[in-house]
Amino acid sequence: MQKKKRTMDKAVIRRSRNEDTEEIMAMLLEMDSSDYLQETWPDWMKDTEDIQMTALVGGRIAGCVHGRISAGQDAWAQGLRVRADFRRRGIATSLITDLEEELRRKGARTVFATISRFNQPSLATVAGLNWKIFFPIIRRRLKTGSRRLAFSPQQHVASHRPSPDLHAVQRIVRLSGVPASRRAAAFFKRVYFSMTEEFLREALVSGVVRANTSPAAVAVLDPEPTENKGLWVVALAGAVSGLLGLIGDLAAEAACKELDLVADSPDDPEIQAVLDDLGFVPPGTDEQFMVVEKDLLV
Ligand SMILES: CC(C)(COP(=O)(O)OP(=O)(O)OC[C@H]1O[C@@H](n2cnc3c(N)ncnc32)[C@H](O)[C@@H]1OP(=O)(O)O)[C@@H](O)C(=O)NCCC(=O)NCCS
Repeated sequence: MQKKKRTMDKAVIRRSRNEDTEEIMAMLLEMDSSDYLQETWPDWMKDTEDIQMTALVGGRIAGCVHGRISAGQDAWAQGLRVRADFRRRGIATSLITDLEEELRRKGARTVFATISRFNQPSLATVAGLNWKIFFPIIRRRLKTGSRRLAFSPQQHVASHRPSPDLHAVQRIVRLSGVPASRRAAAFFKRVYFSMTEEFLREALVSGVVRANTSPAAVAVLDPEPTENKGLWVVALAGAVSGLLGLIGDLAAEAACKELDLVADSPDDPEIQAVLDDLGFVPPGTDEQFMVVEKDLLV
């Protein structure tokens, strides 16, 4: 039997232009009226260091993606979108491939991104391009006034821990493989990049590193207050029994200040069980994601 002929035009991928913005906005609105990209895309287009790519099919915009250098030789990709009627034609694959090339040209060695654990199309697309899962994250939340607190706030607040030493912190954090991150306009609210000594030193100077020496464990907090002025643990590393004490202290601190505590935690059953026991609410589907990465020099 003769194979059905595909009549659609081939996609053209090129750097986005200002004149694309109106059609991209309309595409985003049609795909998802609450998409955060509707706010960020025009901002990205104003920044000459940012890279936006547009896919066109027969002169019509079919997809887009954004990338930038995020820290040193690390790059970041986000905002991949392909119009529903143009999917499964390799457009996302071409957009990412061309973005990778642009990032390489800007000196990037590694590119990172975050993808929901439940977004199979996106995970499959990057897997096809040899991206790897770098670190799965589960964002857990302990609400202010949680009745299930399984600890005594006074007891934890009263416990004083020695000031953490940079090299000890670095050793524990490196071993866990947890990435560094900072707040950003992104679906999962952070941009991830390689953990560096500089990142940890700055965190120590800002007073946002909490450490336990025996058993060794580290928690790094976001230096800025969150929208509800809660505490946000952005990296957790070390022995589970050590983490239990640290998270207990932070939960107590949050409770005393009547703040929520948010913890970006590793997908480790033991750590998840600790968070369950402390009364953290079960994670929603928008709170479970993968930090993925690709070595651009291989
Ligand atoms: C994710 C998305 C960008 C993929 O776009 P796309 O142009 O269809 O992707 P591609 O055609 O390049 O797909 C490449 C491969 O990924 C896999 N894949 C893509 N979509 C898939 C799906 N729905 N189901 C299973 N596998 C899928 C397939 O292996 C595919 O290759 P194949 O078609 O030869 O089998 C698109 O589905 C989309 O815009 N989704 C909504 C927005 C979104 O989730 N963005 C990503 C945020 S991280």
